[in-house]
Amino acid sequence: MSDTSTMTPLPKQSAPIKAEAAAVTRLVLTDFRNYASLKLDVSPSPVVLTGENGAGKTNLLEAVSFMSPGRGLRRAKLPDVTRRGQSVWAVAATLQDQTGETGIGTGLEPVSADNGSDPSSRRVVHIDGVPARSANVLADYAVVGWLTPQMDRLFVEGASARRRFLDRLVYGFDTGHARRVSAYEKSLRERARLLRSGQRDPAWLSALESTMAEHGIAVAAARRDAVLRLGNAMDEGFGLAGENFPRAEVRAEGVVEDWLEDHPAVEVESRFLDALKASRDQDAISGGARTGPHRSDMGVTHGPKSMPAGQCSTGEQKALLIAIILADARLQAARLGRAPILLLDEVAAHLDDTRRAALFEELIEIGGQAWLTGTDATLFQPLRNKAQFVTVSHGEIAYAA
Ligand SMILES: Nc1ncnc2c1ncn2[C@@H]1O[C@H](COP(=O)(O)OP(=O)(O)OP(=O)(O)O)[C@@H](O)[C@H]1O
Ligand SMILES: [Mg+2]
Repeated sequence: MSDTSTMTPLPKQSAPIKAEAAAVTRLVLTDFRNYASLKLDVSPSPVVLTGENGAGKTNLLEAVSFMSPGRGLRRAKLPDVTRRGQSVWAVAATLQDQTGETGIGTGLEPVSADNGSDPSSRRVVHIDGVPARSANVLADYAVVGWLTPQMDRLFVEGASARRRFLDRLVYGFDTGHARRVSAYEKSLRERARLLRSGQRDPAWLSALESTMAEHGIAVAAARRDAVLRLGNAMDEGFGLAGENFPRAEVRAEGVVEDWLEDHPAVEVESRFLDALKASRDQDAISGGARTGPHRSDMGVTHGPKSMPAGQCSTGEQKALLIAIILADARLQAARLGRAPILLLDEVAAHLDDTRRAALFEELIEIGGQAWLTGTDATLFQPLRNKAQFVTVSHGEIAYAA
């Protein structure tokens, strides 16, 4: 049966669905990037990290990003995160929400060289000391979003980064999304392996394709729901940010997403199954699968200019991304009763005074924990009494008075 839970409309005025972690209040790093060991204690209000180039600011944001499923804000291979010369790394964090505290531990598990496993796949996660089945459970505890300088190229590079960005927007409203994307991709990989091996066990192939169809439809539907919600939020205006950042028109673009436009999910599921069956021979040669939500894209248009994001100026592209992140965060705060943790790496430096002030005010109003970085502390002056200032220098931190 199809997993259609993602398609249930949310009530307009919903009470918090579940009390979820709102903020990181303690971060303990061990052999993480340039930190041999570090303990950082903060409150749930915004955190401003300033310091020289190469100090370790982005590394701290990356550590927080490991509180969510996936490969973190650098999409690093896990062994690369280990401090040079060491063999494993760990991040332990305390997540605090209105119901209390949760201890999250994650890191690279030691693997013996001779067991043949891929060390990059051995990320372990503990929740209050208990090992979790996969990092996907983190979606139940924290919603983390980010903007980094690397994402300045999001609209001009390949679809996969945009697809991941869109999927992150889904996590807030659908904590099962990461798990479904993983399950879909796992079946996709297994099917590709089977097709390539030439030993086509028809029953096994059909089972894998059924799993792909079931999860694939749910994934595509959840993306469509997310962009619809976002569109509505943009229409309603999104606070001060709405006055200072352009309206972004966001679309989930893909064959399966298109089919869902005018066909019921059950019909789309069987259509997708037929397409998979029909492309087996071709997929055996080319690998992957010709059709499916693993090929979808996030289309974005600059609303006021009716201009595809890829053709906007660098500054306009950045403004579009900020608009999307802020509208989504505001929506989560208003509809789910809790805001995501936002990691904004070097965002302030690229904005003029008015937009920077609007960004800060909006972050305060949304009320979630934002982590901001920059080399110049004076840019964050408007946040002086509203945020915690931490200076970072050569992998050491100091709390500003
Ligand atoms: N695995 C690692 N082991 C040791 N050091 C590392 C590792 N990975 C990265 N580093 C170093 O960590 C330092 C801090 O990096 P980070 O990106 O956090 O700097 P930053 O404060 O954000 O600087 P910038 O202002 O230039 O963005 C860099 O000098 C980098 O080379
Ligand atoms: Mg940096």
